[in-house]
Parts: sequence; structure tokens; C-alpha cells
Amino acid sequence: MNDAQRVRVARIATEAEDILSYELVPEEGGELPAFEPGAHLDVRVPGKDSALRSYSLCNDAEETHRYVIAVQKDARGRGGSRAMHERVREGDVLVVSTPRNDFPLMFARSYLLVAGGIGITPLLSMARQLQRTGANYVLYYCVRAPERAAFRELLSSAPFADRVRFHFDGGDPNKGLDVSGLLSTRGPGTRLYCCGPTGLMKAVREASTRHRWPWEKVHFESFGAEGNSVALGKEDTDFEVTIRSTGQVLSVPKGQSVLNVLRRNGLRVPSDCEAGSCGTCVTRVCEGQPEHRDTFFQQEPAGDERMLICVSRARSKRLVLDL
Ligand SMILES: Cc1cc2nc3c(=O)[nH]c(=O)nc-3n(C[C@H](O)[C@H](O)[C@H](O)COP(=O)(O)OP(=O)(O)OC[C@H]3O[C@@H](n4cnc5c(N)ncnc54)[C@H](O)[C@@H]3O)c2cc1C
Ligand code: FES
Repeated sequence: MNDAQRVRVARIATEAEDILSYELVPEEGGELPAFEPGAHLDVRVPGKDSALRSYSLCNDAEETHRYVIAVQKDARGRGGSRAMHERVREGDVLVVSTPRNDFPLMFARSYLLVAGGIGITPLLSMARQLQRTGANYVLYYCVRAPERAAFRELLSSAPFADRVRFHFDGGDPNKGLDVSGLLSTRGPGTRLYCCGPTGLMKAVREASTRHRWPWEKVHFESFGAEGNSVALGKEDTDFEVTIRSTGQVLSVPKGQSVLNVLRRNGLRVPSDCEAGSCGTCVTRVCEGQPEHRDTFFQQEPAGDERMLICVSRARSKRLVLDL
């Protein structure tokens, strides 16, 4: 992990069903490196495998004495969020990266923020800044039920209450927010920021295209590899990878990552976040054109010579990997 720092867990609070927030302060006192709304930390999760997981900062970016993250327990995952819930206690020390921002809040005349579930975290930090600076914004927050809405008390009280619209769908996609209706009108100079489950991001992506929102005014953050393709507006296609050292040819079908296909065939490549955000699985490409779907290389484009095989795919029919 680049720029690792040690922080102490000063407070853990329940924010909703299965969602805990963690207030992190510098281990030795003093100030933390600054962050901007939309930024996240990579957290070394305690446990046997000490996995790296990304968590968005949800406090006010003006604060330099603490970071606040909120973690939703995901029973179906590989255990990172479960370990955060079950192993981390107040007073513990965690190793975290410095903040990285792939979802920056850019200047606009007004803002439409659309959050789904735990996707509220980066948008809460944005809302705090927009509120503090007197900007014009509305935050739509879609969740199954009130008890699953993190920060509900905060967002239902002044000064946020006037700007926040909760939408509870009871878990029924037919009762979801009318995204098409919401995006059918657009104030001049409005920017849209969306973070949430793949289905919500897909609906927002499709509605923004249908209602001709300028591409550069619509911003997504995905919390998982599957959502990265929606966030980037890309469809999966099948392709082949050739292992340079052995000549073995493997096919990578839709919905499968290169990393998983290699693994199933007994090839081991180091990986960590498996969401395209940490850079651990970087692999040299000898032939073919990768299609980058990571967030790690956004500031420093990867070109055609390397790719993160946990999420990125191919523009060409075949890639030769230096393995
Ligand atoms: C930039 C960024 C910011 C993030 N911010 C937050 C945040 O603020 N709060 C938060 O709670 N999370 C956030 N996340 C997600 C977080 O990093 C973790 O992915 C999350 O906590 C789940 O980790 P996990 O190890 O429990 O599950 P993971 O193993 O990461 O699994 C997540 C999901 O992937 C699928 N999956 C994983 N493995 C398999 C498998 N073998 N077979 C089938 N499906 C599988 C499952 O659907 C599972 O629900 C963020 C992610 C990114 C990239
Ligand atoms: S494992 Fe983190 S980017 Fe691939």
C-alpha cells in the first residue's frame, strides 16, 4: 500500500441495520492528510488474509483531525466487511492509505446527487461541502427501508432535511425511484453524481443517455468490479488471453474477470482489492489492447502496455499477457 498511515479507531457507531461507522484519528495525534469529497481510503482489514478494502470518507472534508468511514456488512463477500464489523474495536490501530479521489466534486451551478444503499458515503461528504458553501443541490437517497438508511437522523434534520429526499422501495425494483422522470428535466449547468448498487447506476446511466445529459456532467462511483463497467458505460464481451511463457490460450467469457479465469486454471497472480482500486494485480500486456475499467490508473493512464486484470477487459479479440 502506498503512503500507509496508522490511525486509531476513536469511535464505532451503528448508523443503520448492518452499517457501522468508524471514526479514525491519527495514532500519535496531530493532523491527517487532507481529503476532498468523494475520496476513499484503502484499509488493511485485520485478520488472517489482511485484505485491502476501499471505504469512502463521509465526514466533512474541512476536518483534518479525523476520517469517518461507514462499512456495510456483506454476508456474501470474501469477508472484508465482516472482519471490519466483527474484529475491529474502539482503541484498535488500523493501517490505511492516504485518501485517493476518483470521484471528485467539480464546479457546477447546481448538483443532483443520487445515492443507493451504502453508496451514500461519498455523497454525504459532498452534501456536507455543498451545504457549507451554500451551493444548490438535491440528494436523492434510495434504500429498501428506513432502518437501512445510514445517517438517517442527520439527513432528516436541519440543515439537510430541505435538500434530502428519501425513497424507500421495500426491496421491490418496481417501486424504485422514477429515475427517468427525475432526469427528464435538467437545470442549465447541473452535474449529476451517482453511487449505489449496479441496478441503480445502470438506470441512471440509461436515463442520462436517453435524456441527453452531457457525458462529462454525469459522474459515477462503483463499489465493486461489476459496477465499474456500468460506471464507465461499457458492455462486457468475450475475449481470449494467451499466457506468454507457456502459450496456453484461455477464454474469458462475459461476467468473468481475467483474474478469475487464470485462477481457475491454476495460475496465481497477486491480488488484493479485486475491485480495480489498489494496483496489486498489474500485469504487462505484450500484445492486444486492454480496455481499462479500473479506478487506479485514472490519474496516470496505463496505456496498452499494462492492465489490472481483476477488472479490466480487452478491446481486441486477444491479449497476450506477460505471465
Ligand atoms: C472506491 C470504493 C469505495 C468504497 N466505499 C465503500 C463504503 O463507503 N462503504 C462500504 O461498505 N463499502 C465500500 N466499498 C466496498 C468495499 O471496498 C468492499 O468491497 C465491501 O466492504 C465488501 O467487502 P467484502 O470483503 O465483505 O466483500 P467482497 O468480497 O468485496 O464482495 C462484495 C460483493 O462481491 C460479490 N462477490 C465477491 N466474491 C464473490 C464470489 N466468489 N462469488 C460471487 N460473488 C462474489 C458479492 O456479490 C459480494 O456481495 C467501496 C469500494 C470502492 C472500490
Ligand atoms: S487487485 Fe486491486 S486492482 Fe486488482
